[in-house]
Amino acid sequence: MSNAWFESVAEAQRRARRRLPASVYKAILAGSERGITLRDNVDAFDEIGFAPHTAGLSGKRDLTTTVLGRSLALPVLISPTGVQAVHPDGEVAVARAAAARGTAIGLSSFGSKPIEEVVAANPMTFFQVYWCGSRDQMLARMDRARTAGAAGLIVTLDWSFSHSRDWGSPYIPQRIDLREAVRFAPEVAVRPRWLLSYARSRRLPDLTVPNMVPRGAEAPGFFAAYGEWMQTAPPSWEDIRWLREQWDGPFLLKGVTRVDDARRAVACGVTAISVSNHGGNNLDGTPAAIRTLPAVAEAVGDQVEVLLDGGIRRGGDVVKALALGARAVLAGRAYLWGLAANGQAGVENVLDVLRNGIDSALLALGRDSVRDLCRDDVLVPAGFERSLGR
Ligand SMILES: Cc1cc2nc3c(=O)[nH]c(=O)nc-3n(C[C@H](O)[C@H](O)[C@H](O)COP(=O)(O)O)c2cc1C
Repeated sequence: MSNAWFESVAEAQRRARRRLPASVYKAILAGSERGITLRDNVDAFDEIGFAPHTAGLSGKRDLTTTVLGRSLALPVLISPTGVQAVHPDGEVAVARAAAARGTAIGLSSFGSKPIEEVVAANPMTFFQVYWCGSRDQMLARMDRARTAGAAGLIVTLDWSFSHSRDWGSPYIPQRIDLREAVRFAPEVAVRPRWLLSYARSRRLPDLTVPNMVPRGAEAPGFFAAYGEWMQTAPPSWEDIRWLREQWDGPFLLKGVTRVDDARRAVACGVTAISVSNHGGNNLDGTPAAIRTLPAVAEAVGDQVEVLLDGGIRRGGDVVKALALGARAVLAGRAYLWGLAANGQAGVENVLDVLRNGIDSALLALGRDSVRDLCRDDVLVPAGFERSLGR
């Protein structure tokens, strides 16, 4: 019997590639244009070195922290992604895995599972919205999340509908019906384990987005919701201030790269920001998130919680981000690959890989706690950082 456990995120990615139909794998690999930002998000971490100690190391390390008012067992949260068709249990499996490992999940409003089921699996669920539709529709979405018991709101702003990729975008159908099933048959036939997981669940991959509408209303398809979003005029900072006023709990603004925008977010009263470029899926040529983190953290880190997402593939990356001013990070593709490789256990496996990597780095750096990490722990080459907007 093959060993389901994997030792690295790289191995989870290899297994996801082998297991998923090509279209599904390509959809979660994502990225835009030439993939400059996608690559830089990952490669930039390799440019940062560590400054380990030799003796006097700490026998017991504390990985706990607090984010958006919640205590987390490790400084890694699940970043919101729509995980249609990766696994039949989708975000519910991810939420269970995060709960089992003591951390929180961001649930995308483009996700495939109703928020009520996700909150039941993990009370530390932060609901993510885009600026989409009318103010009344936004309020209805937030009302549903509040009633379901969401622990906070994530508002993602860094999206400019940049779809093209030099390596090609997968074809994604409006819905899976018989005609589409026949069309996908050749690529699905060579992925029996993925097919079996859906056969066992007695469901076809669901391409609807139930959390875009009030509970009980018919869920729109992904493309209908996406089309509405494209038609919606982008929000002003006044709109963001209004949105913040409508939500009386923790509020994370995701997608900040510039110092001036970080200051505007603070002025809107947000609880936290995530320094992010949407995992290299937005405007290609935006620098790696980790390059833009230090300037943002220096400017607003004493006023709001500063998180980072983009390029996290190992525990050492988490430690580097914390040393450069992040309170915690969100991981995206890493857990999607784990989910594809082995469902809930695969996501837990990815969180364990990250956890072990963080612990090893803390040990070598002689730190008792993730909260003690600082710039002295890392070597940042000259010219590494990008200070945008000041
Ligand atoms: C397939 C895919 C779908 C995503 N969907 C969303 C989404 O619905 N909402 C959102 O805020 N971010 C979304 N993101 C961005 C992630 O939350 C996160 O910013 C990004 O994946 C971080 O980069 P990483 O994948 O290198 O960790 C998505 C990313 C991917 C790869």
